Amino acid sequence: MAAQERELDVVLWGATGFTGRLVAEQLLARHGAAGELRWALAGRNRTKLEALRADLGPQAANLELVLGDGDDEAFLDTLTARARVVCSTVGPYALYGSKLVAACARNATHYCDLTGEVHWMQRMIDAHQKQAEASGARIVPGCGFDSIPSDLGVLFVQREMQARHGVTCPRIKCRATAFSGGASGGTIASMLNLLDEASSDPQVRHILADPYSLNPAGERSGPDGADLATVVWDPDFEAWIAPFVMAAVNCRVVRRSSALLNHPWGREFRYDEATLAGPGPAGWLKAAGVAAGTGAGLVMGAIGPLRRGLSRFLPAPGEGPSLEQREAGRFELRFFGEHPSDARKSLFARVIGDRDPGYGSTAKMLSEAAVCLAQDEQAVEGGFWTPAAAMGEPLLERLQHHAGVTFATDENAA
Ligand SMILES: NC(=O)c1ccc[n+]([C@@H]2O[C@H](COP(=O)([O-])OP(=O)(O)OC[C@H]3O[C@@H](n4cnc5c(N)ncnc54)[C@H](OP(=O)(O)O)[C@@H]3O)[C@@H](O)[C@H]2O)c1
Repeated sequence: MAAQERELDVVLWGATGFTGRLVAEQLLARHGAAGELRWALAGRNRTKLEALRADLGPQAANLELVLGDGDDEAFLDTLTARARVVCSTVGPYALYGSKLVAACARNATHYCDLTGEVHWMQRMIDAHQKQAEASGARIVPGCGFDSIPSDLGVLFVQREMQARHGVTCPRIKCRATAFSGGASGGTIASMLNLLDEASSDPQVRHILADPYSLNPAGERSGPDGADLATVVWDPDFEAWIAPFVMAAVNCRVVRRSSALLNHPWGREFRYDEATLAGPGPAGWLKAAGVAAGTGAGLVMGAIGPLRRGLSRFLPAPGEGPSLEQREAGRFELRFFGEHPSDARKSLFARVIGDRDPGYGSTAKMLSEAAVCLAQDEQAVEGGFWTPAAAMGEPLLERLQHHAGVTFATDENAA
């Protein structure tokens, strides 16, 4: 059945998880349960699904519940054949997500998720790209904090440069400044699984180290090198910078966007991410602390017994930051867009989220991406896409108006 004729616009798969519940709240607040968006809650546990629907309040009483297991291919075929879009918060994706992606590619069902598992994304692209192209399924991983603000931020900066000066930026830098909130059990489980796979499989280590690992086959090279691992001075921001933990995902997604969009900013386009620490000795000390913390985290994560010991003190699946933490949280990414020939025309911009990045903001970004895939016109056909390549301007509009994410050049930032 063609995607336009489905019974449901969006199925939220993994609705009973920590992030899934937040996405359900967001979809309900934005669209109600009996409005123009036909959507359903899906998961593997009836009791939890019923409890979630009850918690969502009387407005949700008629929301359909879809019950099944992510390992059951027959169920996944039925589920995906009923929906225009499946929005998945079931992770670690490398453990529980592959059969669903395959079913979406088979059944012409659009798909979005929250994965930051680069090795799994590459596996899925290599395995199902042809089928998704043939069926018309638009598969868009990475629709949370990794990697929507980075991916759409680059699109925004390039649009501004083009509008002001009629050229594009050959290089964009992204610097994380304010960044508050906690991690959920599902995120910890995904990171631990990634470290497990990386410690036992050299191929996974190779994918994680390759700056172009998400580019289409044959285009996995370019001018960017490894992600920043030390403290360096950034002359454009006039500050010390340090490694940024999400760079390993976001940089690869942005480079893939550039390739999928057919290199609109040139084949030599460069992009990198780092943490902005500040100027002077205080800035250097802060940067050194971030670099040391990141390095120590990687070393501990690489050693199996340490990793397993550490996990006992971290949130378990289903747990995550409190409402107070999410509401008090926010994020800010600063961008520098280089003018190709005149440094005075280079520009600075910010992407600011009004909630914690991982959950409050991520739930809003993912739900807007799912509805965008279901309702908005997209210029692209079936295949594996990035948020910017698949949804670009329509998603940017939605994020600004409905997800509390601001995109502004510095002179316009609040
Ligand atoms: N990119 C970002 O910015 C971002 C932000 C937040 C989260 N994430 C990612 O999102 C994922 C979820 O995180 P979370 O903290 O919400 O996890 P969580 O609370 O542990 O929830 C996981 C969900 O998956 C379901 N599930 C697990 N195995 C299943 C199976 N075989 N069949 C059907 N359902 C299954 C669980 O069902 P039950 O409820 O029945 O156990 C639960 O609903 C993680 O991979 C995390 O890394 C990414």
